[in-house]
Amino acid sequence: MEQNTGTRFTLKPHATPTDAETKAQLLADLKFGKYFTDYMAHARWTDANGWIEQEIRPYGPIELSPAAAVLHYGQEVFEGLKAYRHPDGSIWSFRPEYNAARFNASARRLAMPEMPVEDFLASLTDLVAADPSWVPDSAGSSLYLRPFMFASEPFLGVQPAGEYTYLLIASPVGPYFASGLKPVKIWITTEYHRAAPGGTGAAKTSGNYAASLLPQQLAAQRGYDQVCYLDAVQGRFLEELGGMNVFVVYEDGKVATPALTGTILEGATRDSILTLLRDHEIEVEETNIDFEHLVAQIKLGKVTEMFACGTAAVVTPIGELGSDDFSVKLPGGDFTQWVYDRLTGIQNGTEPDPHGWMYRLY
Ligand SMILES: Cc1ncc(COP(=O)(O)O)c(C=O)c1O
Repeated sequence: MEQNTGTRFTLKPHATPTDAETKAQLLADLKFGKYFTDYMAHARWTDANGWIEQEIRPYGPIELSPAAAVLHYGQEVFEGLKAYRHPDGSIWSFRPEYNAARFNASARRLAMPEMPVEDFLASLTDLVAADPSWVPDSAGSSLYLRPFMFASEPFLGVQPAGEYTYLLIASPVGPYFASGLKPVKIWITTEYHRAAPGGTGAAKTSGNYAASLLPQQLAAQRGYDQVCYLDAVQGRFLEELGGMNVFVVYEDGKVATPALTGTILEGATRDSILTLLRDHEIEVEETNIDFEHLVAQIKLGKVTEMFACGTAAVVTPIGELGSDDFSVKLPGGDFTQWVYDRLTGIQNGTEPDPHGWMYRLY
């Protein structure tokens, strides 16, 4: 465990912060990504000066030229992580160094400047410190942190921009599942792909999510909750959902997750689950998972559980897989709940943290 004490973002005080009564109302009725804290972190990068103007500013609309490159060519990267309030009132985030490294890996793929890890971490610390009362303390709640960077140079040439804006906004959120884990129905799309070799699948960049909206809409029209993508080359192997990685649990106790092939986003939750399972000497394989074989194994009862994982929900049991020509149900069970309990225990400070994943923000 580590405490961040550095302050690098200058606080520009808010003239009219949310009053205590309104804040209490918002925190009592949490919705994902709907309400935002009074402050946001800001920084700007220029070719000439590097990172400048690191400030904690009042949250609000930003001024952007209609010619800003991001609006035309989508040069943007983002992250998603949470701040958790522990029983003693302290505030922590889960593996923010992982998000900082992934942010920079995404930035490299999008030909954008990297941000020093300590600046990325300081933006989190300083934003939370500006008003820690925005971090809720009800069971399963947290403050969702959304760092992002975009090309703000007003120029229509198709080339890396010479100016970028970094912002970090924060939204108090409730538990993903208010009344226990709820199985989701997953649509396997054979028509659309999320990422191709050499593309941007391993980067957390807006275009990947824009491309996922139509398949998501089509799946929803068919009564499914989310989409699972197959590899773009052979259309055979399971990759991931639009915003979560996936795991398969077999009858013999073995666990598998798709191998990182360069087209999958390397989830912090995925990585933590791999470590957790190995700590408990559970056999877990990162491998190619052939979806037709998987469906056959589900039908034979050889797969006991499948779950998706990511920061927002931690883990979500998969109750059904379907596509145009098949649908199979999964029994679901205790393993997913066990993984959920271990990870949330560490995040909420009620279980030991042997790998030092928690990082103190306040
Ligand atoms: C495409 C995609 N896969 C997987 C994940 C899960 O990543 P993490 O566990 O770091 O939230 C996310 C969410 O960030 C995602 O957008």
